[in-house]
Amino acid sequence: MATAATLDAVVRAAGPQFGTLMERVEARLAELAGGYGPLLAQHAGATIAAGGKRLRPLLVLLAAGELEAAQSGRLVRSAVAVELIHSASLVHDDVLDRAPTRRGRPTVFAAAGRTAATATGDLLFSRAFAELAGSGEADDVRALSAASSALAAGELMQRADAWDVTVPLARYLERCELKTGALFEAACRLGALASDGPADALAAFGRAIGLAFQLLDDVLDVSGPVERTGKARGTDLLDGTVTLPLILARERDPQLASTDLRALDSAADAERVCDRIAATGALADAKHRALAVVADAKTRLPRSLPPAQRTTLELVADGVVERYA
Ligand code: IPE
Ligand code: IPE
Ligand code: MG
Ligand code: MG
Repeated sequence: MATAATLDAVVRAAGPQFGTLMERVEARLAELAGGYGPLLAQHAGATIAAGGKRLRPLLVLLAAGELEAAQSGRLVRSAVAVELIHSASLVHDDVLDRAPTRRGRPTVFAAAGRTAATATGDLLFSRAFAELAGSGEADDVRALSAASSALAAGELMQRADAWDVTVPLARYLERCELKTGALFEAACRLGALASDGPADALAAFGRAIGLAFQLLDDVLDVSGPVERTGKARGTDLLDGTVTLPLILARERDPQLASTDLRALDSAADAERVCDRIAATGALADAKHRALAVVADAKTRLPRSLPPAQRTTLELVADGVVERYA
């Protein structure tokens, strides 16, 4: 998934201090994924080592901006903790979605089963909070705990709404805010807290770009192409997950409004529904909606931010949408 070009630009714009901090985050993540027996060390280690874009730790650092060296320990711990929660949520998400691959490798669920994947996710969650404890800042723990709880609620909401092609738009958006927006929000809040910045304003920025990120991920599931997503088109549909493209398309195509998702039993069936959704123009509308959320979030960044920090946050917001442009 290529946000690479823009994210490289972010790293260049943010300066050398930033690169050093990201290296510290990476080293600490590798350290924390070990321990607690060979099985957990193997699966947690492989999950972290498989990489990923590291978008959320990047946001933690950018939301902090320039800071005193003395505050960097807290900041690195926060960035590490956010990526651990993200990784934990993916390992558990892949159990719920019965996903075969993640980050270009077999999921823990596919490789070792539900029990191992549940335990690996649990380990990653708990390591995140242990890491934050090192800072001794109750506000940091509260912010991450809120995101982690929202994630759990969002994932359950998705299961509860599975197979329901009539799910209301507002409920879908709430689900996206819970399962994805809340962790982006926490990332920005934690960065701002570490540098005494405008935490509420940056948290709102994070929440908005997290929401847009999920909307676009959901568009990509329908639009493909497979070479870019690494998974077949319509994977969400086969799973019973109703997302924005179908929600918009069902208003325009009565046959889609009465689709029985349980009756889809092959990748080819799912692709046919994807084509039908695309034919309504819903994909372009969903994309525009997400782009508008990002554009609005950028204009709401506080005027008080130093210009260099503002620029890097705007760049990262563009990076979130770039993979879909
Ligand atoms: C995937 O997030 C889950 C969603 C919220 C759509 P990312 O696309 O950031 O996953 P990695 O960390 O790069 O693997
Ligand atoms: C995002 O949902 C996963 C979490 C926020 C835990 P998806 O189910 O859409 O993510 P992918 O598509 O599996 O990466
Ligand atoms: Mg999933
Ligand atoms: Mg998805």
